[in-house]
Amino acid sequence: MKKIILISIISLATSCYLSAQLPQPENQLSPTPPMGFMTWNYFGVNINEQDIRTLADAMVETGLRDLGFDYIFIDDGWQGGRDNKNNMIPDPKKFPNGMKALVDYVHSKGMKIGIYSDAAPLTCAGYTASLNFEEQDAKTFAKWGFDYLKYDYCGAPADWQTAIYRYEKMAKALRNSGRDIVLSVCEWGNRQPWLWAKKAGGQLWRTTADVRDKWYCGKQVDNPNDLHGLGAGILDIVNVNADLSAYASPNGWNDPDMLIVGLYGKKGAPSSDLGGTGCTDTEYQSQMSLWCLMAAPLMITCDVRNMNAATKRILSNKEIIAIDQDPLGKQAERVVNNKDYQIFVKKLANGDIALGILNVTDNELITEINLLDLGISGMKTAKDLWSKKVLKLNSKGNIKVKTASHETKVYRLK
Ligand code: GLA
Repeated sequence: MKKIILISIISLATSCYLSAQLPQPENQLSPTPPMGFMTWNYFGVNINEQDIRTLADAMVETGLRDLGFDYIFIDDGWQGGRDNKNNMIPDPKKFPNGMKALVDYVHSKGMKIGIYSDAAPLTCAGYTASLNFEEQDAKTFAKWGFDYLKYDYCGAPADWQTAIYRYEKMAKALRNSGRDIVLSVCEWGNRQPWLWAKKAGGQLWRTTADVRDKWYCGKQVDNPNDLHGLGAGILDIVNVNADLSAYASPNGWNDPDMLIVGLYGKKGAPSSDLGGTGCTDTEYQSQMSLWCLMAAPLMITCDVRNMNAATKRILSNKEIIAIDQDPLGKQAERVVNNKDYQIFVKKLANGDIALGILNVTDNELITEINLLDLGISGMKTAKDLWSKKVLKLNSKGNIKVKTASHETKVYRLK
């Protein structure tokens, strides 16, 4: 008997020791940045199951799902409170068939689906949220079949400690829910989540204030928090997110907010607040280019059931999407940032390099770049991923790039 007890104690001690020594298997729910359609910028809280079904249909019919946009993300406004057992329920008018039926439908389309809540009693738009119901709500989301949770931070205390605690708590509840559910941390970069959100259990974290349908707020901000009041345009967000490249890696992405491509200043939509009167197609194409260079989650928000040809072309560029989804999972480094242009360099898994040049001026610009000066050597060709033209590179590594105002050129160097 004594011998058995002794052996048990030894084997227990050994297994404790080994599990402390061995690297814990990493929870790889998001090896590349998530992609899909998100309801917020276009619909705001005016969402319902019929629209979401037809949006999922459109994602398939337009070919966007097959290009990798395989999530439908439901944002704020779905909630209908709690039942007499405190289980969250959807608004019965917006979702008369309940969430499970909708989730099953989206899954039947070969897509995944996300839901939204907040780490306080109420969400940003004032709906029922999850504080103190983390375990119960995570189980409800899992039971319905959700694959992703965007967890917002309106109505919660400003300090870091509470934020980290509340996100950890929801992450743990999701892990206990019996289903793999990605956690998107949404506290807008106010508490530098790139320093703690991955450890807290998130796979992506917003880095900025909400994107508006505009290019630029009109002034250089020293404190990114000022963008909440000024309205963050594409360039404002780039100017925050670009310097965070060191923090992005597989299963932990900087999230510079949704794509506004194709919204054209849609009236009444959240993206039209704070001067969001719309962008040009050149600017929308720039957003797509820069988000892919920055290995950002790609969340389409225009009405994909009624896209024009320009929008579809911008969202459907396979070679640009491949830069975003490259398995090495590096965010481009911004290696030049002056008053006229910015240069981005993204290392890719097969040894190729993606090079981006953004013209921030109001005029056409010709930029002479020396690749050796940027630390790039041995590359033979440069393919422009929008025009598809291939340039031969000389041994001196000089390349001349012409960009229209606010345009971003993207080259894949081989
Ligand atoms: C916050 C988020 C947005 C959106 C709204 C919903 O503003 O940052 O992305 O989810 O709340 O109310």
